[in-house]
Amino acid sequence: MYKKLKNLILDPNPLRAIAKKIIQKFGSYEQRIRIGATDYPYYGYCVYNAAILARKLGYKRISVLEFGVAKGDGLKNLEWHAQEISKLLSIDIDIYGFDTGEGLPEPLDYRDLPYHFKGGFYKMDIPKLQAQLRRAKLVLGDIKETSKNFFEKYNPAPIGAIMQDLDFYSSTVVALSMLEAGEKYYLPRVFCYFDDTVGTEVELYNDFTGERLAINEFNQVHGDIKLGLPYHLLARRVVESWHHRIWICHFFKHSRYNEFISMEDR
Ligand SMILES: C[S@@+](CC[C@H](N)C(=O)[O-])C[C@H]1O[C@@H](n2cnc3c(N)ncnc32)[C@H](O)[C@@H]1O
Repeated sequence: MYKKLKNLILDPNPLRAIAKKIIQKFGSYEQRIRIGATDYPYYGYCVYNAAILARKLGYKRISVLEFGVAKGDGLKNLEWHAQEISKLLSIDIDIYGFDTGEGLPEPLDYRDLPYHFKGGFYKMDIPKLQAQLRRAKLVLGDIKETSKNFFEKYNPAPIGAIMQDLDFYSSTVVALSMLEAGEKYYLPRVFCYFDDTVGTEVELYNDFTGERLAINEFNQVHGDIKLGLPYHLLARRVVESWHHRIWICHFFKHSRYNEFISMEDR
C-alpha cells in the first residue's frame, strides 16, 4: 500500500496514473489497450495493431510468435490478448511459442552478455505449461533446429506480430533469419517487440551486443527487409519504457506493401 502510494506521488503525471488505474479496472479492452493499461501492454499493442492491419488488407487469419517462453507468463498473456482481439476484430489468431524447454543455452561469447545471463536460467515446466495453454502451440528445441522446418511443418497463417525474448544475441540472430522465409508467411509490416533492449545499469544493453546488435546487423545486410523504429510511439506526449522496445519490420518488396490502407476522405 505504502509502495503503491509512493509510486503514485512520485509519478511525473499522477492524475494520468490514477486515470490509467481506473481504466485498467473498468475500461473496455480497447480503451485499455489504447493507453497500455493491461499486463504485457506491448504484447497487446503489437497483436492489436497487427490485427487491424490484417483486417484492412482482408486477411481472415494471422499468426503471432513469441521467441523465448520460459515458464509461459508471456505466452499465456499473449493468449489472453489474442482472444480479446479476435472477438473485437473478428479475426482468427494462431499463436506459436518457441523455446528450448530447458532454459537458456550457454552464452557463446560477450555478445550474449554472460555478465547478466547464465545457461539454465528460465527452465520451463513443460507438462505444467502444456496443460495451462489453451490455443498456443509450443515449438520446443533450440531455435537453431526448430527454425529450419517451422514453416514447412506448421504452414502458419501470415505472421503479424513477433515477441522477441530469447535474451541472447546468438539466438536472436537465428530468430531474425526467419524473416527471410518469404512473403507468404508475413504481413507486409510486422509489429515486433524486443524485450532485452532497454534494461538497467546492470544489463547496459547497447548497440554492440545482445538483441540490439542482432537488429543492427540484420538491417546492415538486408536491403528489402528492415527493422525500423516506431517514431509514432516515441513522439507520444507520454512515452513509456516499452515504447523503446518496439520495432516495425518492413517488407518493402512484399506484393501488398504498397496497398493503400489509410484514410480516404482527406
Ligand atoms: C527471459 S526467458 C522468456 C520469458 C517469456 N518471454 C516471458 O515473458 O514470460 C528467455 C527464454 O529464451 C529461451 N531461449 C534462449 N535461447 C534459445 C535458443 N537458442 N533456442 C530456444 N530457446 C531459447 C530460453 O529457454 C528462455 O526460456
